[in-house]
Amino acid sequence: MIYNFDKQIERRGTGSAKWEWYDDGVLPLWVADMDFRAPEPVIRALHRRVEHGIFGYEFNPKELKTVICERLARLYGWQVQPDEILFLPGIVSALNVACRAFGEPGDGVLMQTPVYPPFLTAPGGYGKTADLAELAVSAGGRLLHYELDDERMAAAITPRTRMFMLCNPHNPVGRVYSRHELERLAETCARHDLVICSDEIHCDLLFDGHCHTPIATLAPEVAARTITLMAPSKTFNIPGLGCGFAIIQNPALMKQMQAAAAGITGHVSNTGFTGALAAYQEGQPWLEAALAYLDGNRRFVTDYVLEHFPGVSLTQPEGTYLSWLDWRQAGLPQRPYEFFLKTARVALNDGALFGKPGEGFLRLNFATPRALLAEALERMRSAWAEAASAAGD
Ligand SMILES: Cc1ncc(COP(=O)(O)O)c(C=O)c1O
Repeated sequence: MIYNFDKQIERRGTGSAKWEWYDDGVLPLWVADMDFRAPEPVIRALHRRVEHGIFGYEFNPKELKTVICERLARLYGWQVQPDEILFLPGIVSALNVACRAFGEPGDGVLMQTPVYPPFLTAPGGYGKTADLAELAVSAGGRLLHYELDDERMAAAITPRTRMFMLCNPHNPVGRVYSRHELERLAETCARHDLVICSDEIHCDLLFDGHCHTPIATLAPEVAARTITLMAPSKTFNIPGLGCGFAIIQNPALMKQMQAAAAGITGHVSNTGFTGALAAYQEGQPWLEAALAYLDGNRRFVTDYVLEHFPGVSLTQPEGTYLSWLDWRQAGLPQRPYEFFLKTARVALNDGALFGKPGEGFLRLNFATPRALLAEALERMRSAWAEAASAAGD
């Protein structure tokens, strides 16, 4: 089957958060979903589910668990048992459940900034602090590269730090951490006896031959302190179906997560389970085609920025469909988020929401037909050129 990712599908009028948050006429390159139809097998499976017509509770789908275990074994050589999987309706809710489950009020949750904003807010909801360690950033020309900063990590850990929340691949900086980096992280966590909550939702969205390593696969001792969070939602563009899962191989941690989730998170819907099963069973050809298209968009953004946005640096993400752009040297008359929303009518994510090191940055979601991406970038270029010429008058 040939997928046509160039096709522009109207999403206004469908309740899409991405397209309806802002006025008509604003091009949205913000929230992380793709403007592409989901894999046809997923759509067919949902049709069958709808035709059946009964939408009762579904608690513990055996076939889906088996498919997930087989997939983890195939991709990572990771032996996971069905009862080590806990389904949750979303990964943000899983992050919050983990913050609730481990430690006492007053304890700390370590994380690396800039980071996906729900990381920053989750600990506070349970009387815990977010202990922030900035990633190190270096630039090769105008391409940004983020890395672990062991000294800042060590400095951010306090005697009250109980958990480390890892984002791998890392939203927004697009790093796919190497085995060696993960080993360093795991050692730090072992030294301070931290639970690791590893959000790996972007683990299938990889470029340039990068390979994902679930941190729990490093060693049984690491698995014993780790909650791994995964979902088919980013991979196959079905986030609205609401199905995610935690892999927890330590029975004591599993009990604590289950207790913290009980009565609060709600169930995964049967359409969520249906979509997940079809996606994992039959979505691979779509995923490969989508990744090839996304790779083209990723390069398109980088080339465009380097050619038309002088002074702006950016990441060439190893994973995720998100670019991260540094506007601090661009001399914009306003904060970049407001400037481009008002003058170019393009909505990106304000980097400041990803923590202090994100100030002056924008996150750009390039999972959209290339013509729309080109139009959004062209609008930004021309708004910026106009502002620069007005400033020079
Ligand atoms: C790192 C990360 N975690 C979680 C989510 C959201 O997950 P969910 O929709 O399952 O809550 C996103 C969405 O952008 C994300 O980037």
